[in-house]
Amino acid sequence: MSENWNKRTQAVHGGIRRSQYNEVSEAIFLTQGFVYENAEQAEARFLECGPDEFIYARYGNPTVSMFEQRIAALEGAEDAFATASGMAAVNGALTSMLKAGDHIVSAKALFGSCLYIVENILTRFGVDVTFVDGTDLEQWKAAIRPDTKAVFFESMSNPTLEVIDIASVAELAHAVGALVVVDNVFSTPVFSRAIEQGADVVVYSATKHIDGQGRALGGVIISTRDFIRGTVEPYLKHTGGALSPFNAWVMLKGLETMALRVNAQADSAQKIAEALEGHPALERTLYPGLKTHAQNALVQSQLGGKGGTVLSLDIKGGKDAAFAFLNAMTIPVISNNLGDAKSIATHPATTTHQRLSEAQKVELGISSGLIRFSVGLEDADDLLADIQQALEVSQK
Ligand SMILES: Cc1ncc(COP(=O)(O)O)c(C=O)c1O
Repeated sequence: MSENWNKRTQAVHGGIRRSQYNEVSEAIFLTQGFVYENAEQAEARFLECGPDEFIYARYGNPTVSMFEQRIAALEGAEDAFATASGMAAVNGALTSMLKAGDHIVSAKALFGSCLYIVENILTRFGVDVTFVDGTDLEQWKAAIRPDTKAVFFESMSNPTLEVIDIASVAELAHAVGALVVVDNVFSTPVFSRAIEQGADVVVYSATKHIDGQGRALGGVIISTRDFIRGTVEPYLKHTGGALSPFNAWVMLKGLETMALRVNAQADSAQKIAEALEGHPALERTLYPGLKTHAQNALVQSQLGGKGGTVLSLDIKGGKDAAFAFLNAMTIPVISNNLGDAKSIATHPATTTHQRLSEAQKVELGISSGLIRFSVGLEDADDLLADIQQALEVSQK
């Protein structure tokens, strides 16, 4: 194995650990525990567990470890800890490092559950949170204090697709010694170089592009060995957010095809967004890859010009028109995952972001006509034709 491999090679071979049978495809070690040769070995392992040794699947498992090592290699990081879901990863990354009295700064444009952790859970345990408009560096500058412990943001926000400048926010955070924690789901491991750009901790919901085929829940926290083994692991191994070995295997196999899938999905998303821009049934076509997107220059420098696999369409006529549009489409499914091979359409205001107050929805641009559209692997022309006929229906 080589540290110099590019992402695509890491995604196929990184972290592999073969059993005595020398299998080609990664083995699923579907076991909760591991047998010790004698009592002395058990004692020694509890005292110090080596990198190729295991105690209990809540702490670690060979299949889970392969997934962790593969995604860490792909991100150019030292280590990773896999979790039962993306939310277990967000919670694990933040809660493991924070204590009562700490201060964090968070972007306010967050997925509903991320916002819940920051706004409702962390504050309940005495963490002081300042929210900012993540796209406004002046607000980050004003909010970050000498005692700020961490900053948190989605590098591309769900569902309004704001792109946050990782390098600039990291510079401000690092000046006071704060850690930069990035939920990188929408940027994807394929397009993002978040660690290189200054993120200290990168979090993914593996449920999205890493699986990419809607099969399993999973998540992962990626960082330095010190942070993963010293801060995250003690928290997660005792609180039980571990990824199951079977789901880890699904994610491992997902990583092998991820670049092909995500590139194809992003190319289709770009094509569809360009074709829909200015459509008379749309108030706005939001897609980071469009030249008209407010942070398109940043998309060029931070994401190599790739706008991701999701676009958001603000349909004229509010909720009724949005529902008519959803119900008229024949190819995408109405659901709430993203990054899947199947295109998925979501109405955030009544589902994923339902919990937000009307004022928060207005502030974040989650209008009643907004549809989040995760572009799948179908033919882009078929998708476009389906969207166009559904837009017509929405205006009747
Ligand atoms: C930005 C973001 N973070 C975290 C999550 C949570 O992931 P999971 O559903 O795997 O817990 C999601 C899910 O939609 C998301 O969009």
